[in-house]
Amino acid sequence: MIYLKELEEIRSKINSIDNEIVRLFEKRMDLVVEVAAVKKELCLPILHLDREKEVLDRVTDEVNKDLYLEPTRELFMEIMKLSRGIQIKKLFPNNIVLIGFMGTGKSTIGESLSAILSMELIDTDHMIEKKLGMRIADVFESKGEAYFREIERQVIKELELQKNIIISCGGGVVLNKENVISLRKNGKIVWLNAKPEIIYERIKEDVTRPLIKFKSSNQIKELMNQRKDIYEQSSDIEINTNYKGVKDICNEVIAKIYNTTQE
Ligand code: S3P
Repeated sequence: MIYLKELEEIRSKINSIDNEIVRLFEKRMDLVVEVAAVKKELCLPILHLDREKEVLDRVTDEVNKDLYLEPTRELFMEIMKLSRGIQIKKLFPNNIVLIGFMGTGKSTIGESLSAILSMELIDTDHMIEKKLGMRIADVFESKGEAYFREIERQVIKELELQKNIIISCGGGVVLNKENVISLRKNGKIVWLNAKPEIIYERIKEDVTRPLIKFKSSNQIKELMNQRKDIYEQSSDIEINTNYKGVKDICNEVIAKIYNTTQE
């Protein structure tokens, strides 16, 4: 019986420590929100990766027992990820909507932005595939493009009320004005652009894209030219992705969004 009592005592100590951790965590988050306000005021970049490294080095220096070194690192990496998420929510409470021709990097950039900004990523093509239980290529093949566009419209409408997410759209989403109006409600629309030759190289072997019957970059150019004005008119921000790495493109998206957001 004495053992059970001891266990209870230890648990009770853990409970008090947990409460303290919560209070400290709240205090830390309040300060992080203050930092976000100052960053906005001074027009400083949202992300400060050097500072994150500094924090990690400092907290791991504080650890006394080797056994807790790695868990402390992991804990603070998670804390900083959550802090980033809170700052982004404060600085940019809306959605980031990625549009652009196929092969311009919407999915890759969406995934990377989602990791950097701790924002949920929603891919409209994936939503359609889930809704219909079919791959996009098969939807085009068996039901036709008009049917696909109707489901795409429904999916975009479903997303209309969501906030603080990244939406990676299918390349043809802007063909329906109604979609653009829905996406604009809570979001900044970012047009990822690239040269036809570069797109051709990126997607020429992809069999999952139904509209890719293109045999050359000229055919891509033709379809791109038909859509260029619509992408331009539908977007708030244009990013040229030619010859740029994922990290640079993400930084450009973040900086441009941040600069165009007013409270
Ligand atoms: C389309 C692009 C595709 C997909 C569908 C139609 C288009 O998305 O939605 O095949 O009309 O450009 P990605 O741009 O992600 O390939």
